[in-house]
Amino acid sequence: GQPRGQVRPGSSGAAVQRAPQAAGPEEAGEDAEVSTRKKTFAEVQTERLEQAERTVLIKCPPKLNEKKLLQYLSSHGNIKSHFFFENRGIHALIEFSEKNSIASLQDAIGLPSAAEYHVVPFKSRLFTFMLKNPVSQAAEETPLHLSPQSHIPVKELIEKLCHADSISSQMYILLNEYQLTDENIKLRYLVCSLVRDFARAYFPDSTVKPFGSSVNTFGKLGCDVDMFLDFHDTQKHAAKTKKGPFDMEYQMKRLPSERLATQKILSVVGDCLDNFGPGCVSVQKILNARCPLVKFSHQPTGFQCDLSVSNSIAIKSSELLYIYGCLDSRVRALVFSVRCWARVHGLTNSIPGTWITNFSLTMMVMFFLQRRSPPIIPTLDQLKELADQKDKLVIGGYDCSFVSDLSKIKCTSNTETLDVLLGDFFEYYGNFDFRRNSINLRKGKEVNKPESSPLYIWNPFEQDLNISKNVNQPQLEKFVAMARESAWILRKEQKAQQMTNKEPWGLAALLIPFGKSNSNKMKNRMKGIGSETIRNLLDSLKLNNPTNLQKAVGK
Ligand code: CTP
Ligand code: MG
Repeated sequence: GQPRGQVRPGSSGAAVQRAPQAAGPEEAGEDAEVSTRKKTFAEVQTERLEQAERTVLIKCPPKLNEKKLLQYLSSHGNIKSHFFFENRGIHALIEFSEKNSIASLQDAIGLPSAAEYHVVPFKSRLFTFMLKNPVSQAAEETPLHLSPQSHIPVKELIEKLCHADSISSQMYILLNEYQLTDENIKLRYLVCSLVRDFARAYFPDSTVKPFGSSVNTFGKLGCDVDMFLDFHDTQKHAAKTKKGPFDMEYQMKRLPSERLATQKILSVVGDCLDNFGPGCVSVQKILNARCPLVKFSHQPTGFQCDLSVSNSIAIKSSELLYIYGCLDSRVRALVFSVRCWARVHGLTNSIPGTWITNFSLTMMVMFFLQRRSPPIIPTLDQLKELADQKDKLVIGGYDCSFVSDLSKIKCTSNTETLDVLLGDFFEYYGNFDFRRNSINLRKGKEVNKPESSPLYIWNPFEQDLNISKNVNQPQLEKFVAMARESAWILRKEQKAQQMTNKEPWGLAALLIPFGKSNSNKMKNRMKGIGSETIRNLLDSLKLNNPTNLQKAVGK
């Protein structure tokens, strides 16, 4: 398997760090310069999608002879990479060097007999491996290495964090435990590629691409796979200009609105997945949502998937976050810690509601990093300045241009440690004037709220949309209160003392629900600190006046 952590603990802004998306095992032999160059978002997507097309998934028996399996498969072509994972039994992901190996394998297998199964004549890329002679199938001496597809439980994480020597290294440990692995990313692209096989039954030119946290460098193991159907393969169609007097009834009936077209497309693809998609279960069409989608669960990989129709603006925000995530190793470490903290305290939830989403939270971290002095990441307007001709893009009247080549972006001279950044993040939002101000990543400035939503975060591309419109006043207040509590805990902490007492400290202390922390222990700790210190702490956090909290969040 691949090493899970590719991030070196180190807080220098210049630290070279490769996003897991940008790192593939095949690069190992390439010369240093090429392999350390950070790929553009488009390059990563193209490479991963192409890789997924050469990939199959094989369900294996519990006692597996790895050599036998690989030996058998190699008769269909060279295997470029493979790994095993556990999900309702053992599965193998096999990446062939050539796409035609898959056809060869499919041909060798043929279709099950119609008398036994009522088959739909669709050749899938999911196989079951079973040898007639169980003796030759028996397990080898060396046990299979299973690549983990989920992160360790928070409790276990907290224990690990307690052994670290700084908050900064705690944050990198969390990142390494939670971030998507190369293997998990391969599985995500494979699911998209399998769905594409189905979509092509109706729409031969379509592709299915992942977006959101699967590709923006901020995905954690277990997060959903957001994917969209794309009919506008720009590379294919760009060169074509209209010749001759004909207009085409473009692949479908003329429909009165784009929304209706989207709904109809998703409806048939959803039905197709539901009726015939191997391993696709719990297919749910949610066509009346603002962004119509089909939800389903893909059993062989265990992913929860959201399929929508091409949303160029969402893909641009994924690319923007990808750039931010690749620029400086502190960015992802801070986001993962904040997201984990928010989840533990019930500020975010896997079901949609009035709470802050991971996406909004990530944008809040980005904004905070833009506000440092000197800034750790550039504003979107600065990234737009760096855009060249090929980066120019206008979608629905909105200018979505920004630089795609990471090497054009200057490294920050900010050298603050993550210890400082984490504490300051909580202080910054604990004292943010949410009542008056909104968060604008394009300008990198707090600007007056254009309307009265409790939390206003400008959609970086559709400038009249608030990405956190769903958040209500109580949820915002809860966020502010938790941020203040956390800033306070980090400030007053006596690391040495807590390490000798074997108490969770630093980030670990923040990942324990505050209600559950022993209030006596809290009082004792308070006793230990001089009243002067407490007053200073309270002053610095503006907690001395209880109405300040309400004032800050606008009640
Ligand atoms: N999105 C958006 N505006 C929103 C919500 C979502 O543009 N108000 C886009 C973003 O590009 C986001 C993607 O839709 O990344 C997927 O949304 P979601 O799954 O909610 O967020 P993720 O970033 O994928 O995070 P998570 O790990 O929680 O799934
Ligand atoms: Mg998602």
